[in-house]
Amino acid sequence: MCGIVGYIGTEDAKEILLKGLEKLEYRGYDSAGIAVRNGEDVRVYKEKGRIAELRKVVDSNFETSTGIGHTRWATHGVPNHENSHPHQSESGRFTLVHNGVIENYEQLREEYLTGVTFKSDTDTEIIVQLVEHFSKEGLDTEAAFVKVLKLLHGSYALGLLDTENPDAIYVAKNKSPLLVGLGDGFNVIASDAMAMLQVTDTYTELHDGEVVLVTKENVEIKDIEGNVITREPYKAEIDASDIEKGTYAHYMLKEINEQPAAMRNIIQEYQDENGNLKIDEDIIKAVREADRVYIVACGTSFNAGLVGKEYLEKWAGIPTEVHVASEFVYNMPLLSKKPLFIFISQSGETADSRAVLVAIKALGHTALTITNVAGSTLSREADHTLILHAGPEIAVASTKAYTAQIAVLSILAQVAAQDAGIDTGIDLLPELAKVTSAITTVIDDAELMEKIATDFLETTRNCFFIGRTMDYYVGVEGALKLKEISYIQAEGFAGGELKHGTIALIEEGTPVIALATQEGVNLSIRGNVKEVVARGANPCIISMDGLNQEGDTYVIPHVHEMLAPLVSVVTTQLIAYYAALHRGADVDKPRNLAKSVTVE
Ligand code: F6R
Repeated sequence: MCGIVGYIGTEDAKEILLKGLEKLEYRGYDSAGIAVRNGEDVRVYKEKGRIAELRKVVDSNFETSTGIGHTRWATHGVPNHENSHPHQSESGRFTLVHNGVIENYEQLREEYLTGVTFKSDTDTEIIVQLVEHFSKEGLDTEAAFVKVLKLLHGSYALGLLDTENPDAIYVAKNKSPLLVGLGDGFNVIASDAMAMLQVTDTYTELHDGEVVLVTKENVEIKDIEGNVITREPYKAEIDASDIEKGTYAHYMLKEINEQPAAMRNIIQEYQDENGNLKIDEDIIKAVREADRVYIVACGTSFNAGLVGKEYLEKWAGIPTEVHVASEFVYNMPLLSKKPLFIFISQSGETADSRAVLVAIKALGHTALTITNVAGSTLSREADHTLILHAGPEIAVASTKAYTAQIAVLSILAQVAAQDAGIDTGIDLLPELAKVTSAITTVIDDAELMEKIATDFLETTRNCFFIGRTMDYYVGVEGALKLKEISYIQAEGFAGGELKHGTIALIEEGTPVIALATQEGVNLSIRGNVKEVVARGANPCIISMDGLNQEGDTYVIPHVHEMLAPLVSVVTTQLIAYYAALHRGADVDKPRNLAKSVTVE
């Protein structure tokens, strides 16, 4: 949520900042702004809406080689010009961008800033006004900045400019992600390395509570008490072409199409030289020693956890619960004696999940993070990490991360089972290879999914997904994808549950997408379809080869039924994509959303 960038060097800062913000737009697109400076002259350009709007108001003739930028997902204050970042102090001396939420901003305002006129409704403006307040009391900028940081409760990644110290960007971080990028004669800051790959692939991680002075030639990291910290930089292993759309109309379509490649990567990365599945021994030990696994995640990652639970229980024999992170943190269930926590997160930055991680670490429990982003906060702070190897996911709607999460969870459960001497009855590697080609078949049939989208969803206001067991979980994910990008009200239900209330919503023509890939419940889900048809529903049945019946709308190739979610979900992704496209929605940037949810 919200992305920040900063550049200090010799090149045109405006263009570098704008390009950087374009790469961070997935983090929020309510408004965008940059502040650029030429000596003491600081210009702020900001605009409601996308970076494209911001570009229109930036003065291309202003010469500048230092600046900060921000793309916003609104938390405090509606998306408008005044609430857009950067924010300035009353005198205009200090200019700030902020990603995060300051919880005690109202108290701080009352305590220190009663005489100050505020221009925005944001929590951020408090920070920049406080820096000015303390500098007026005689503190130098760094000391004033640190004094403010010590007063803040909440999350922040900050970039601050001071007209009286033009050769530096003051930077700090707590909970929100932030990296420093290193160059030859320039340095940068960014919420995500992708933003600044245009100028450097060398980065230094920042940790919570650190304060950094970034100049053209130097990056000085200190802890909040002023002790200097040295940390080795690393190379960001992202191929610049991975983050371009290429010939695809949308990132979402590109990422759906990348799923077979992601599967192949996973198969390769989790295989040893003898062709056997491999997972770090310490991780398997942690899984084996646990008397219960608690999967904690949000949104699509939570939905992947529902499928993963089946593998851990049915193959590895470990009782597993799946929890929504934002609930778990406030309402922790009675924990078992030896729990293992598995955090599933594409971004590795989700604040709700991180809050649980912090809480369970404080209780002394072990955590494993399954994430697409090496070095992300959830990865760094957990005891163990498994990487998804899906490549950068940029579309707000998660697709390839979901299938990658399920694939990695299946491998984890299988290796844990093998280690315990349990015969799961499945030879996972060849089965995953079959899944890969089945996904390719579905993708090749994209036109059929487009037809389903137009036949069933072009004008509808609502849609139901039904399924039983594994298919129920896929239905929940299919509904999430459809509603978030097409704005059709969609819900996923357990086939047997619909008649306990929700069937009242079925009217003449209501689309009901039924998933039928599980042999044991094939007849019962088809019975549920008949129930809704009798009430006027327009049924779309997606079944699996071998379980199909005449009249099914689409039949996915046969795969092991425990792995069917990996294939059937791709049909729902494509249906959602085309439904949104035909309704004229912004597929990659659905309204009100952001990719990386770094506020609780
Ligand atoms: C939906 C979607 C979200 C994310 C959720 C968790 O398409 O992408 O529901 O799954 O915000 O994000 P991560 O996985 O980054 O923790």
